[in-house]
Amino acid sequence: MPPTKTQVAIVGAGPSGLLLGQLLHKAGIDNVILEQRSGDYVLSRIRAGVLEQVCIDLMDEAGVGARMHKEGLVHGGIELLFGGRRHRVDLNGLTGGKNVMVYGQTELTRDLMEARRAAGLPIVYEAQHVSVHDFDTRTPRVRYEHGGATHEIACDFIAGCDGFHGVCRASAPRGAITEYEKVYPFGWLGLLSDTPPVCDELVYVNSPRGFALCSQRSRTRSRYYLQVPLTDKIEAWTDAAFWQELKLRLDDAGRAKLVTGPSIEKSIAPLRSFVTEPLRFGRMFLAGDAGHIVPPTGAKGLNLAATDVKYLSGAFVEYFRTGSENGIDNYSARCLRRIWKAERFSWWFTMLMHRFPEDGPIVGRFQEAELDYLVHSEAGRRTIAENYVGLPLDFAE
Ligand code: APR
Ligand code: PHB
Repeated sequence: MPPTKTQVAIVGAGPSGLLLGQLLHKAGIDNVILEQRSGDYVLSRIRAGVLEQVCIDLMDEAGVGARMHKEGLVHGGIELLFGGRRHRVDLNGLTGGKNVMVYGQTELTRDLMEARRAAGLPIVYEAQHVSVHDFDTRTPRVRYEHGGATHEIACDFIAGCDGFHGVCRASAPRGAITEYEKVYPFGWLGLLSDTPPVCDELVYVNSPRGFALCSQRSRTRSRYYLQVPLTDKIEAWTDAAFWQELKLRLDDAGRAKLVTGPSIEKSIAPLRSFVTEPLRFGRMFLAGDAGHIVPPTGAKGLNLAATDVKYLSGAFVEYFRTGSENGIDNYSARCLRRIWKAERFSWWFTMLMHRFPEDGPIVGRFQEAELDYLVHSEAGRRTIAENYVGLPLDFAE
C-alpha cells in the first residue's frame, strides 16, 4: 500500500515526475508518484531524444546516467538543407565546445523507471480520478482511486508533472492563471525504423514540399519526420508513401544514401506553442509539459522539463533543509525566463523551416534567403548554435 503521508506528492510519471522523484530521493525527501496510465503505456510513447548538457547533468546527479553515457551519441553539429543544398552548423565550434547528446526519451524514461523500481520507491500506476486539494494551505492533499478504493495522501507540496492534459493545471484557480497558445496549421508524421540513419548528424530540411527531419536513435535505428496537413490520416500513409515523400524533400546525396525499411512506429503529432503563467499556485507547482509545450523543431521539450525539475528539486531541498522559501518563491519567474527564450527559438525555427498553407511561394523564398544569410554569417550560425545546445542556465538569472 502506498503511504498516506509524504513530503512531495508527484502527479505524473513521465520524464519530469520520474526525474524529480529520483532527485528528491537522493536528497532524502520522501515522495510518491501517481500515474494514471500503466508503465508499459508510458514507455510506448515515442518522443524526441536530443539532450542538452543540463539534462545530461541532471541524469548524472540523479545517479541514472550510466547507460546514457554508454549508448548516447554525442553530436557536435546539425545540418540545414534548403534550396537543395546542405549547410553544417558547427554547434561545438560555435559555442566554445558544447554538444548535444542523442538518446531517446523512451530510454531515458526506462532508466528512471528502473532506478525507482530498484530503490523500492512508491509509484502508483493506473491511479484513476486523481484530484488535488487544499494547495492554498500548508496541508495539501491528493486523492485518487486505485483497485476499487479511494485513497488520500497528505503532503507538504504537490508537483504537477502530469503533462499538457493533466489535472494539476486544470485545478488552478482560473482567475490566477494566464495561458498563451499558438497552434500550427500542420502536423509531424513520424516514422521509426531499424535502418541506419541517412546522415551522422540531424538534418533539418526546408523544401518547397514542406519540412522534413532526419533524426536517429542509434547507428542502426532512424527516426524521420514529414510536415503533413492536419487532416491527413495515419492509415493513409503507407511506409512506401512515406519513403517516397521523404526522398522528394531530400537532396541528391540524401536520396542516394537513404536506406528504407519497414516502420516500427508511425504517428502524426500536432504542433503547439503554449505557456502557463505562473507555474506556482500556493503549494502546488507545475513542471514540464504541464506548464508549457514547444513545437518539436529544435527539440526543447524534454530539456525545458529538465530545467524546471532542476529548479524545483533545488527549491524543495532548500526548504526541507533550511526552512527557506526563497527557491520556492522564485521558482516560477526563474523557470519562465528560460522557458520564454526556448519558446521563442522553437517558434522561430518552426516558422523558418515549414511551409504554411496560407503563404504563397514568396514566403518560401524569404525563408531560403534568411537561411542563406544565417548560414553564411558567423553571427547567424552562432545564434542557431547557442540556442540549439541550450542557453546557459545563468543567462536566465
Ligand atoms: N493523473 C495522473 N497522471 C496523469 C494525469 C492525471 N490526471 N494526467 C496525465 N498524467 C500523466 C500522463 O499519463 C503522463 O505519463 O502524466 C504524465 C506526463 O508525462 P509527459 O506528458 O511525458 O510530460 P513530462 O513528464 O513533463 O515530460 C515532458 O515529454 O512531451 C514531451 O516534449 C516533451 O520531452 C518533453 C517531455
Ligand atoms: C527526434 O529524434 O525525435 C527529434 C529530434 C530533433 C527534433 C525533434 C525530434 O528537433
